[in-house]
Amino acid sequence: MLSPFKLKIVQDLIATSTKEELIWLNGYLAGLLAQGAGEPAAGQQQSVAPKANVGKVTIVYGTETGNSKKVATDFALKAKKNSINAKVVSLDQYRLTDLPKEEYLLAVISTQGEGEPPASAKRFYDHIHQNGFQLDKLKFGVFALGDTSYPLFCKAGEDVDAQLEKLGGKRLIDIQKCDVDYESDAETWFDKVLNKLSSNGNSAAAPPPLQLVPQKKSTGKKIYNGTILTNILMNDRGSNKETHHIEIGADDIEYLPGDSLGVIPENPLTVVEPIIELLGIDREQRFTYRNEELSALDLLKKKLNIFYLPERVVSKYASLVKQDIPATRIGLLELLRIYPLNSGTRLQDIIGILEPIAPRLYSISSSPDAHSGEVHITVARDKFHVNEEWKCGLCSDFLSQLSVDSTIEFYIHKNNQFRLPADDKDIIMVGPGTGIAPFRSFLAHRDSAGASGRNWLFFGDQHFVTDFLYQTELQNWVETGVLNKLNVAFSRDQKEKVYVQHKMLKHGKELYDWLVNGASLYVCGAKDPMSVDVEDTLMQIVQKFGNKTIEESVQFVEQLKDESRYLKDVY
Ligand SMILES: Cc1cc2nc3c(=O)[nH]c(=O)nc-3n(C[C@H](O)[C@H](O)[C@H](O)COP(=O)(O)OP(=O)(O)OC[C@H]3O[C@@H](n4cnc5c(N)ncnc54)[C@H](O)[C@@H]3O)c2cc1C
Ligand SMILES: Cc1cc2nc3c(=O)[nH]c(=O)nc-3n(C[C@H](O)[C@H](O)[C@H](O)COP(=O)(O)O)c2cc1C
Repeated sequence: MLSPFKLKIVQDLIATSTKEELIWLNGYLAGLLAQGAGEPAAGQQQSVAPKANVGKVTIVYGTETGNSKKVATDFALKAKKNSINAKVVSLDQYRLTDLPKEEYLLAVISTQGEGEPPASAKRFYDHIHQNGFQLDKLKFGVFALGDTSYPLFCKAGEDVDAQLEKLGGKRLIDIQKCDVDYESDAETWFDKVLNKLSSNGNSAAAPPPLQLVPQKKSTGKKIYNGTILTNILMNDRGSNKETHHIEIGADDIEYLPGDSLGVIPENPLTVVEPIIELLGIDREQRFTYRNEELSALDLLKKKLNIFYLPERVVSKYASLVKQDIPATRIGLLELLRIYPLNSGTRLQDIIGILEPIAPRLYSISSSPDAHSGEVHITVARDKFHVNEEWKCGLCSDFLSQLSVDSTIEFYIHKNNQFRLPADDKDIIMVGPGTGIAPFRSFLAHRDSAGASGRNWLFFGDQHFVTDFLYQTELQNWVETGVLNKLNVAFSRDQKEKVYVQHKMLKHGKELYDWLVNGASLYVCGAKDPMSVDVEDTLMQIVQKFGNKTIEESVQFVEQLKDESRYLKDVY
């Protein structure tokens, strides 16, 4: 217990400190105590403060948009402040042969796609799913990042946790699964880890955790209520594309250029109503779904994925209706039509096997500084052929049809891996099609900040006349000197296909010079083949204009990545 005088000093210090300062202070005191500071002289009572008893902890992370990297790096800083030797490694850099030698391993991993690990963690994930080796020395913990809106919440983290145990590892701490507001969960979980580590896994001897920072309860992700201010089709008549510029107004939106907007689309009534009819229910009939009670109409319109069911759901349906149904993806309406419910099937059971509608992300194309109180997105209506019939993707179709003044719920998906550099640094942006979105945000942001760094954009699409997205704005930025260089590639305006990577190669010497002089290179848009072709071209440019061997070019590009000067937001 402190004397009232000392207590007052501590209280004053806490009251005037930021959260970061308190975290630092927490670590500082823990470090001092671990080194024996304040320990009683011989004959006095023993201190109960935690003391690190482990040699080394490896913290691995698998990330797509940087959240897991941030968490892993914060963990390592905190561990070091507590005198624990922590090494942070991205899972794509992690030497798999080190795994059987690890004593303490913490894995921070997000879930991507439909319950899959991030691309950078795939090799590790596949490796631990192979049998034939044992991890008897290992004590591990998994911090899983995810989003509760997805049907397979934190699945990759769960898989890693289960698999490490299967291979013989001992859980140092239970898995922590968290939603997109992971910060406070991370703090609490890592405090528990430190406590376990300080007692070296021997919970009977574990001293109480040192907690100067009050733990906050997770509040769930922040959902904004927006109003559609503008929804315009940017392609001209005759185009094969339908790209919408959508402006949404909302109060107190917080985001940064590089972030995306997450939205859960609604199912169209043209699909919902025939299902209600086929099921022979009243649209107002109440059903319970995942602890929520809703009318049949709201459930089918706003909650359930009925549009294009995953195979696992079709297979559960087959068991419920006791029919042989081939492993396939199909909409609920077609499924009910082809394989109708039998009289014994309970409707509530069918609802129980259906999964929630997954959110979709859209790169934000506005800047919080230039477009205050608004957030803009650039949406390509996804059209595809199924059995000689044109169909549209659920969310892009939903967004394309939103009328002005209608309302929409959304959230912000942070992307810490795709940030602007300092104002005085040059940037090169490669963004064909909807890949232009974050670069409109970057340019607007740099324009309003009066940033001195130079800006170079490569844009491409099919035709100059119909598909030059944001043409007027881009040309204005060229005229005002915000956009120092603009190179466009319209693939179908001539016999030979011309893409952004061809324009990059054409200007390869200058592009290489910009990179050597410190510019950052950003790529946004289609993952495959665009971003792959762009990377191949970048290698060629470095080889040719840097006069380098293939190995040296690979090294050059790797260094750009290490310095966060080659960043991708591809999908
Ligand atoms: C980080 C990130 C940023 C993104 N930014 C943008 C952006 O700025 N602009 C943009 O336009 N998009 C962007 N996207 C893509 C966007 O999130 C969606 O994936 C895209 O709009 C398609 O979603 P959808 O709901 O329209 O299509 P979905 O309904 O999800 O369909 C997707 C695909 O599934 C198949 N499919 C669906 N239904 C059927 C069916 N009934 N039969 C057969 N096949 C079917 C089709 O192949 C279809 O193309 C981004 C994605 C990510 C991850
Ligand atoms: C395309 C996409 C698919 C996702 N799929 C899932 C999923 O199946 N399950 C889940 O829990 N989270 C899913 N998420 C949410 C991410 O795991 C979450 O946003 C996380 O914070 C990302 O962390 P990272 O930046 O380290 O990759 C998905 C996110 C995206 C962009």
